[in-house]
Amino acid sequence: MSLDDFRHEALAEVGSTNTECLERARKGALSGLWITADRQVDGRGRRGRAWFSEPGNLYASLLLIEAAPMERLGSLPLAVAVAVQDAVSRVMPLNGPEVLVKWPNDILIERRKICGILIEGETLPDGRHGLVIGIGINVAVAPDAGLYPVATLRDFGVSASPDELFAYLFQSMAETLSLWNRGRGIAAVMERWKQVAGGIGENITVNLPDRSISGRFAGIDDTGFLKLETEDGGTRLIAAGDVFFG
Ligand code: BTN
Repeated sequence: MSLDDFRHEALAEVGSTNTECLERARKGALSGLWITADRQVDGRGRRGRAWFSEPGNLYASLLLIEAAPMERLGSLPLAVAVAVQDAVSRVMPLNGPEVLVKWPNDILIERRKICGILIEGETLPDGRHGLVIGIGINVAVAPDAGLYPVATLRDFGVSASPDELFAYLFQSMAETLSLWNRGRGIAAVMERWKQVAGGIGENITVNLPDRSISGRFAGIDDTGFLKLETEDGGTRLIAAGDVFFG
């Protein structure tokens, strides 16, 4: 997909930009539709949590149809993290703190979460696979998310508005998805991901659905799984979990 394949519709208020994108897809919308909203009244986070969505922050979703063959879709979250990290870095002040990615796709500044990403997909009535990448960035307001410390871009001296930030995101996502190349370019995307990843080499704890494991974060493997070196000398590959530093 090139930059020309993406369109943007800005709404004042919506239930959830993710839901809106999926509804459009069910009615036949083409891949590459971005929907942003000033405010969401039913913003959704991961694991069924609500996502604070009052005006002042960025709420954006991108619809992709037949984004990649199923077996290559697992690498998409890493590509999304690379794009968001790039967009946020572009609005940071000179000499501002680093913007880092926490596996797989949280974006942190000074170890505080400034963004949430929710990727959802479904088979559409016509049999195509629709997928939506939902991105919420704390520009001006940081609701307490519970699990991790949070911050806003304003806390770090960013003056850009949600619209200005979106313009960078629109561009960086187009570039990163082109590099990702329907999953064929995952090696190049993972190189970028590693350059901006936080915590590699550090001790971390990973919360899995049924337990927590601690160890040394040894990086990611070729498919994007987290490599955790545990005390017993083994290395575990983790496909999904919540990572905590220290
Ligand atoms: C998380 O829990 O960390 C993910 C939060 C994702 C929030 C964004 S805001 C835009 C899009 N629309 C939603 O309803 N959720 C996502």
